Amino acid sequence: MILRKKLIAGNWKMNKTSADSVTLVKEIAQQIGRQTEVDVLVCPPATALESVGRTLEGANIKLGAQNMHFEASGAFTGEISAPMLRDLFVTHVILGHSERRALFGEDDQLINQKVLSALKTELRPVLCVGESLEEREAGDTLKVVQTQLEAGLAGVSNEQAASVILAYEPVWAIGTGKVATSDQAQEVHAFIRELLTKLFGETIAQKVRILYGGSMKPSNADELLAQTDIDGGLIGGAALEARSFVDLVKAAAKS
Ligand code: 13P
Repeated sequence: MILRKKLIAGNWKMNKTSADSVTLVKEIAQQIGRQTEVDVLVCPPATALESVGRTLEGANIKLGAQNMHFEASGAFTGEISAPMLRDLFVTHVILGHSERRALFGEDDQLINQKVLSALKTELRPVLCVGESLEEREAGDTLKVVQTQLEAGLAGVSNEQAASVILAYEPVWAIGTGKVATSDQAQEVHAFIRELLTKLFGETIAQKVRILYGGSMKPSNADELLAQTDIDGGLIGGAALEARSFVDLVKAAAKS
């Protein structure tokens, strides 16, 4: 069995100025030191990418963006492209977050264009999938996840698939304090890995990391991270303070 290195990723969403971001990331870097057991990723708002990137020079923490446009340049007012992110030493980009889907009308086809563009530009997409409460209650969880995953990864080659990171984020668990039980999460993660096996073969499916996201915090992380197919977390609220974020990195290190 392939051992997947755990990944703890912070999605700061629309929080923190550039100066506040630097303060936070300095604290995080100081507290986690030079550990290499867990991969650590921070995704500050776009306005803080440059300053955070500079602060992280030499640190073992990766830099991610929260969104991007699929075109490299052009008349797209307000948008940021993959080459622009690369220019700031960004290595990862969150795509298809449920907030982008629900509040900004992003559909699977658009998200797929972004995934392909990110991969072409050598950015690692963190592709988010997850069902709403209504969909879960209707028994549609796996169907929804399958549709989002297959559409989001359409046209991705086997070689490219190895650098994709997935995040299962049940919408009803995001920012609500209502975390999925470890059984609920593991069921969907295992299902995602099965789908990956069908799409890209066993070897790649065993390599791809699937993060859980939705009210993950130090008090509930151990159980989630102990599940076979949960390879880390995509953290919102608990990533906004060094202490809780670092505790999550520590939880991942001992899981
Ligand atoms: P919370 O951890 O605040 O629930 O947010 C999860 C999330 O949306 C991460 O992308």
